[in-house]
Amino acid sequence: EAATLNTLNGQAPLVIAHRGASGYLPEHTLAGYELAVKLGADYIEPDLQLTKDGYLVAMHDTTLNRTTNVAAVLGKRNNSYAVSGYTLAEIKQLTVLPTGTGKTTYPGFTPSSPDAMRVPTFDEVIALAQTQSALTGRTVGIYPEAKIADPLMEDKILSTLAGFGYGKASDKVVIQSFSLDTLTSLRAKQNSLGMTIQEVFLGNSAAGSFTDLAKIVNGIGPSITNNGANAVTAAYIEAAHAAGLMVHGYTFAQANPDLAAAQYDKYFGWGMDGVFTNYTDLGVTARNEL
Ligand code: G3P
Ligand code: CA
Repeated sequence: EAATLNTLNGQAPLVIAHRGASGYLPEHTLAGYELAVKLGADYIEPDLQLTKDGYLVAMHDTTLNRTTNVAAVLGKRNNSYAVSGYTLAEIKQLTVLPTGTGKTTYPGFTPSSPDAMRVPTFDEVIALAQTQSALTGRTVGIYPEAKIADPLMEDKILSTLAGFGYGKASDKVVIQSFSLDTLTSLRAKQNSLGMTIQEVFLGNSAAGSFTDLAKIVNGIGPSITNNGANAVTAAYIEAAHAAGLMVHGYTFAQANPDLAAAQYDKYFGWGMDGVFTNYTDLGVTARNEL
């Protein structure tokens, strides 16, 4: 018998594939996003950076050198590996490295795309979600993060989403940022474009009360590893819900299935509405047992 769910909307919590299936395959690759879908992710999460020629690419860092072979292939630009110093055509020459896990394959999985280990554009990530939605018969959501505070990035995110037919709060799209200024600007731009895509503010220390935040965003994305002020507790989630904010915690990075299960159970019991996880399958298993 299903237990009562304490989420804001009473629905099962969402499993968000943090940087793709990043516990198994290189982060922010088409291979990693596709594997995440195969493992049951509700949403795939691309962090976004802007290239020199104004394209949105999926990458966590503002620089290319941690996650790609840029040093060997292209070298530095203006004494830096900044994403903003290279064109998309140049970045497409690079291979994403297995930073973190060291693994480039996953048992029984072959990526569909021949470019599965290149740096993807935002367009390619959305296209993958839409293709996989058609193939699987369930809608794969996208959860982009604006990693830099730049009006051009805001405009490109919204125009790209609109180009793929997204624009409503009911679409499986959530935009996230650590910058309340960026989210405020995005909300204003959405209003002027007639768009109502959901937004989430990341960070434990809310810039103001939950009630004030709820005027701008639909949810909050706190770090679950913060044990200090504003640590995520049952009371924290209850207060966010009372203000009408959903809570999507990051990062569920526990690889051990038993330890992971206990961790998910704790936060799901408190009514957490979604989890950013590196191990999609472990999040899905815990969620499906609720
Ligand atoms: O989006 C939640 C989480 O992704 C924020 O952490 O640094 O992995 O982007 P980060
Ligand atoms: Ca992120």
